[in-house]
Amino acid sequence: MKIAAAQIHPQFAQPDKNRNIIRRYCKRAAQQDVDLIVFPELCISGYNFSSKEQVDSFAEPVPEGPTTQLWIELAKEHNMIIVGGLAEQGRSEGIYNSAAIVGPDQFLGCYQKIHLFANEKDWFLPGSQPPHVWKLPSAAIGVLVCFDWAFPEASRILMLEGCEILCLPSNLVLPYAQRVMVARSIENRIFTVLANRIGTEPSTGCKPITFTGSSQITNPLGEILARGSRTRSGLVIAEIQPQKAQDKFLTGQNHIINDRRVELYQRLCNGDQR
Ligand code: ACM
Repeated sequence: MKIAAAQIHPQFAQPDKNRNIIRRYCKRAAQQDVDLIVFPELCISGYNFSSKEQVDSFAEPVPEGPTTQLWIELAKEHNMIIVGGLAEQGRSEGIYNSAAIVGPDQFLGCYQKIHLFANEKDWFLPGSQPPHVWKLPSAAIGVLVCFDWAFPEASRILMLEGCEILCLPSNLVLPYAQRVMVARSIENRIFTVLANRIGTEPSTGCKPITFTGSSQITNPLGEILARGSRTRSGLVIAEIQPQKAQDKFLTGQNHIINDRRVELYQRLCNGDQR
């Protein structure tokens, strides 16, 4: 199976332009026989919002909105799985920072980011559903979004649900997630695809933000199979055997699920901080 992170440079507040970039990247990925492509977080709107009205104006329902419909069309045309981030207009209330997942035959679902970063808290509602794994014929695919990287519980839950490939659409500004995903791979014995964007986003009334690129694919041994540049866009591709993520023996005598001492971890499951 070939998997890819599409390291792109979305243009702020230019959804049509960004959807065209996505079209081009899906075509290029298909020419290289990619089976799964992951686009960054909020890759349609851009990230550096200055008002709630701005966020609202770029939010779309999923799957009825134009971006998910485009992903459905492209996934079918190129026979691939597509994961990508967008601002989602919720059913009744607010806006979520979400990632849609679409298979070659159909829309599969949506994950609403549960750990909001910095002033994302002013724009989005946090998701209220646990991270989910989509079990497809080619692989079991779990999805988180960007800052979820900082919460090992989120990837651990995905692993316990059978995730083989963890997809992380991102707009990273801190320098940690690439290193953290190596650890997430090792401790969960899973593949990870971190799809980060590049570029600096000035937006009226906001301090500019520079995104850190370096999209990355890791294997269950924590090896970096492919890595993008910090500043240039491009496809980051690796060929993998997803079923290798089913081997949970770290040594012949250490199984990362069975060796857990859950009776000693009770505090992980309640919110007290002591
Ligand atoms: C982030 O969650 N976009 C840093």
